[in-house]
Amino acid sequence: MRKPIIAGNWKMNMTPSETVKLIRELKPLVEGTNTEVVVCPMAVSLFAAKEALAGSNIRLGAQNVYFEDAGAYTGEWNCDSLLELGVEYVIIGHSERRQYFNESDETVNKKVHKALQKGLKPIVCVGEQLEQKQKGVTAEVVRMQTKLALEGVRASDIESIVIAYEPVWAIGTGMTATSAEANMTIREIRQAVRERYADAADVVRIQYGGSMNAKNAAELMAMSDIDGGLIGGASLKAEDFSKVVNY
Ligand code: PGA
Repeated sequence: MRKPIIAGNWKMNMTPSETVKLIRELKPLVEGTNTEVVVCPMAVSLFAAKEALAGSNIRLGAQNVYFEDAGAYTGEWNCDSLLELGVEYVIIGHSERRQYFNESDETVNKKVHKALQKGLKPIVCVGEQLEQKQKGVTAEVVRMQTKLALEGVRASDIESIVIAYEPVWAIGTGMTATSAEANMTIREIRQAVRERYADAADVVRIQYGGSMNAKNAAELMAMSDIDGGLIGGASLKAEDFSKVVNY
């Protein structure tokens, strides 16, 4: 019912020419898949990525966007520019942005609204930190982040949203949540969506992210509520990423 979606978050890796090379390698490896495939290069590589992706089934995503239309916001970029570059998805509220760039639940919510208004599909990231996990408040944290990120979003827009559950302690560490653990927390997230949007919660795709790779993808994807993955490290090599896509 929910089409699987695997997205590569290339973070601050891959210059424009490296981006083109990786996309050229990836294209033939994923062309037959039934999974929706997204790559999210650095903003400065998006133009090159758009050209390299021409005629392929791979969708383009960005890693961030600002919530104003235009103006005196040095260093930021707007939704219109992403749309012109062929971008369809935008990652919002990644834990690295929350941690290093002061992204808050409030700015996440503003970005979600702007993206939806402009016709970009948000990939909204939520996830608990190690300390929160140890204190047993994972469910509370992800439920709160989810509700605050979606605050004021219309029910009709809910199906355009993808949520990525990324336990912060699992990102780039080689530690993954067990598939059962990840599924349980993702069910909490879906339940939080259901409390606001009733049955629309059934169409929202929720990804797992955090050291997901070619080895553990099949097991994670087999879980009832895991609809995809947001892949960091393992998305930087065409072969590895294609194995996740073709799990
Ligand atoms: P990772 O990153 O796969 O390298 O853990 C995932 C992410 O941060 O999106």
